[in-house]
Amino acid sequence: MELSALPGFRDFYPEDAARRDFIFMRWRETARRYGFAPYDSPPLENIELYRRKSGDELIGQIYGFTDKGGREIALRPEMTPSLARMIASGGQSLPKPVKWFSIPQLFRYERQQRGRLREHFQLNCDILGETGVAADVELVALLVDCLCAFGLTESDFRVRVSDRPLLGALIAAVGLSDPAQHAVVFAAIDKLTREPAENVKRRMVEGGIVSSQADQILGLFQKKGLPEIASEYDASPAVCERVLLLQRFFGMIEAMGLQGYAEFDLTVVRGLAYYTGIVFEAFDRKGKFRAISGGGRYDQLVRTIGGVDMPALGFGMGDVVLGELLTDRGLWPTDLQPRTDVYLILVHESLRTPLLSLAHQLRSAGLSVDYGFTESAVGKQFKTASQRGVRFAVILGPEEWQRHAVKLKNLESREETEVGVEKLQERLLETLKKG
Ligand code: HAM
Repeated sequence: MELSALPGFRDFYPEDAARRDFIFMRWRETARRYGFAPYDSPPLENIELYRRKSGDELIGQIYGFTDKGGREIALRPEMTPSLARMIASGGQSLPKPVKWFSIPQLFRYERQQRGRLREHFQLNCDILGETGVAADVELVALLVDCLCAFGLTESDFRVRVSDRPLLGALIAAVGLSDPAQHAVVFAAIDKLTREPAENVKRRMVEGGIVSSQADQILGLFQKKGLPEIASEYDASPAVCERVLLLQRFFGMIEAMGLQGYAEFDLTVVRGLAYYTGIVFEAFDRKGKFRAISGGGRYDQLVRTIGGVDMPALGFGMGDVVLGELLTDRGLWPTDLQPRTDVYLILVHESLRTPLLSLAHQLRSAGLSVDYGFTESAVGKQFKTASQRGVRFAVILGPEEWQRHAVKLKNLESREETEVGVEKLQERLLETLKKG
């Protein structure tokens, strides 16, 4: 029987767990700086929650099973439907806008590749109950800061921003008005940065789009900027309205000084089906990795799931690509493993009772304390302490103990002094505070 972790699943040894906790800590600090409150929900959900709006691609990746009560259950592949369910059933009375964040573990049966596993942790930040574009700006600013918190800068990543209604209006201008055709085009365009244009065209044609219209649609992506689109489609009120909105969006981004991070890019569509407005994705500038983060506005999802009208928008940022990026840029801090402050060394086993009492006293004072569980040579105990990177050794020897004292050794400077037991705690706390 194969007893290693399943393909696409990770074991977190202490070093990995320390890195993961570091990512979570930075995410939490940043979300709180923006006034977001933490929430959570169960990792198992009724599969129906995703059937309503996540889209075929995600449905095909669900880890599902039938429970003992005959219910069809999914391990959550994303957080947004759970959030929509929570808001629809209990969040209506909350003061608006609701600003919540969470760091769920998510499960998708994906084809394994660099940056894509079958489980990942994903920071989710969402705003609910706000229609104004300032909320979209706020989220992109938060996304940017969630990456800058790790030392990444505008030369490392960028946020590509687009707008689904704008793309919809442009597709309509090509002569496609059926929402089902729009869905085919969106799904194909979503692959444009990862697949050659012929493949994308083939996807459209296989979905029932006429070849010449598919060509016209691909031609849209030659137009680079908003002014060019605005002047070419000035006869389409829908296009003009969305261009204006995006211009306001970028104006506010500039007011925040974030213009170096965010740029307009019509090819961003997003794979999930529920987005209804501005959408965005963050990528590393060298183009080496998959998307670091993605999100957008989904004003209909809470209604589809729970019958409640509630505009909403948010983003998800995974730990996998971010971790790869931090490794690539050498941005992991070197001191992530928590260090033990004190190792108690027993010169003679007869002193184990005072050692246990001292260990408990020092731990109660907030120090981290370790010691060996079985009798062993003093040299071996020192070796264990230095292998673990402990800062101080406290040596309990029969002679000193008679004077109610211990030896305190700084394991970095090798300096050693005798300290009265009643002064030890204070001395350690003082020295550690000084660093
Ligand atoms: P998503 O684009 O599917 O969006 O995922 C967001 C991010 O999660 C991706 O950019 C990537 O960093 C990470 N991610 C996704 N799948 C995997 C995977 N298989 N392995 C590793 N990392 C992965 C959503 O999930 C939306 N629900 C986000 C959202 C929140 N939209 C609004 N609110």
